[in-house]
Amino acid sequence: MELTSEIKVNGRQKFSSNITSFALYTLLQEYLGSDLELIHTRYKSSESLLTFETDQSTTIHKEFYQHCEKSEFLESYHSYAASVIKPYFQDTKYVDCGPLLIQRIPSFRVQVPNNIAVAEFHKDADYSHNVYETNIFLPFTDAINTSTVWAETKAGSGDYKPLNTKLNELWVWDGANCLHGNKVNSTGMSRVSFDFRILPKKYYVEGNTKISVTAGKKMIIGDYWIEF
Ligand SMILES: [Fe+2]
Repeated sequence: MELTSEIKVNGRQKFSSNITSFALYTLLQEYLGSDLELIHTRYKSSESLLTFETDQSTTIHKEFYQHCEKSEFLESYHSYAASVIKPYFQDTKYVDCGPLLIQRIPSFRVQVPNNIAVAEFHKDADYSHNVYETNIFLPFTDAINTSTVWAETKAGSGDYKPLNTKLNELWVWDGANCLHGNKVNSTGMSRVSFDFRILPKKYYVEGNTKISVTAGKKMIIGDYWIEF
C-alpha cells in the first residue's frame, strides 16, 4: 500500500523529525527568538480566544510571514522536506505513489497559554483541500495535550485524540478528512509548529482555482504547491 493510502486507513502515524539538527530550526529561532516555548513572553498576545479572522494575523504571525518568501527560508524548508519528509513516502515497505507535491509555504501556528491556534473544528476538505492530501504536523516545541492538535483517530470516527509530540517528532496524518481543532492551552508553555500538506501529483487537479483560506493562495503548482 502507498503511505498516503495507509494514512487514510489508519488516520495518523508518528515519525522522527530530527528538526533541531536542521537550518530550518535555527532560522526560526533567529526570526522569533530561541526558547520558542516562551515566545508568549516576548510578544504581546491577544487576551481573547483567536477567531477565524485573527488566527493567522497575530503579531507573531506577521513577524514570521515577513520572512517566509526569503530564499534562505524557502531553501531551508524545502531541503528539510526533501531530506526528512520525502524518504518516509519512498520507504520500500510502501508502494511508490509517484511524484509528490508539497505545500510551497508551510502554515505557521502558535498556541500561546490560555489560547487556541486554529479557530474552528473542521476537516481541511471543508476548505478547498483535496481529499487525497496528507498532512504533516511538525512542532518546533513540545506539543502535548491542550497545546497540540486534537483530531479524530480516523475520518468520521468522532473520537478525538491529541497529536502528542515531543520536540524532534512529527505526525503524518489525515487532516483532509479527520475533524480536528484545539482546546484552550493550559500547559503554561507555547506551542510553535508548521503544518503542511503532501499531495501525490497524480491526484492534482489541473486548473483548480480554489483559494486556500489561510494563505490566500491559489491551489495550483507554483502558488500553493511545488514539486519536490
Ligand atoms: Fe486544518
